Amino acid sequence: MARLKPPRPLDESDDRESFDCGRESMNQWFRRHAWRNQQLGVSRTTVLEDSESGAIAGYVTLSTGQIEREFLPKASQRNKPDPIPIFLLGQLAVDRRFQGMGVARSLLFYALTTSVLVSRQIGSFGVLTHPLDEEVRGFYRRFGFEELPGDPRRAMIVRIKDLERNGFGAG
Ligand SMILES: CC(C)(COP(=O)(O)OP(=O)(O)OC[C@H]1O[C@@H](n2cnc3c(N)ncnc32)[C@H](O)[C@@H]1OP(=O)(O)O)[C@@H](O)C(=O)NCCC(=O)NCCS
Repeated sequence: MARLKPPRPLDESDDRESFDCGRESMNQWFRRHAWRNQQLGVSRTTVLEDSESGAIAGYVTLSTGQIEREFLPKASQRNKPDPIPIFLLGQLAVDRRFQGMGVARSLLFYALTTSVLVSRQIGSFGVLTHPLDEEVRGFYRRFGFEELPGDPRRAMIVRIKDLERNGFGAG
């Protein structure tokens, strides 16, 4: 079992080249865009580092965003602004060497807790993500994410109020 340091912001000196989650698009994003976006402040990437090797075991990226009100189920559309503010969980990936050890679970816990805490200062309806395929949809479903029926890009969302009800951001 890997021993990981606590979550921390991506640093310019982090070795992004050797990171391999098995999905080339996400490897490339991490190599080419993660640091530049961090410098620009348009997204924030948080990493978990292996304490022995210093390797990046996984990363998660958060930024702000919005969705059309009509993406929500009909019954939930009433009394909501249009568009609706959300937090965007843009990227979440775990290096192959560290998969199956709970790293994604830890990254998601960090991202969802952070979202709840920030939502107390900056309003947001929920945390949204765009799963890459059916298998990954299953992964997010386990953590309370639900389908957005009206969204052509088939995003999934978990509501801040549901996260709070489940204890995220408490204490
Ligand atoms: C999908 C991914 C993030 C999972 O990371 P991981 O660190 O191996 O996952 P964890 O060990 O934290 O697993 C957490 C839970 O999710 C489950 N899970 C893991 N991968 C899953 C998958 N692909 N589908 C459904 N459930 C999955 C695990 O069984 C575990 O459940 P349990 O604790 O009840 O046993 C990782 O395999 C990955 O980076 N894949 C490539 C990139 C990718 O597809 N990212 C998804 C963003 S769209």
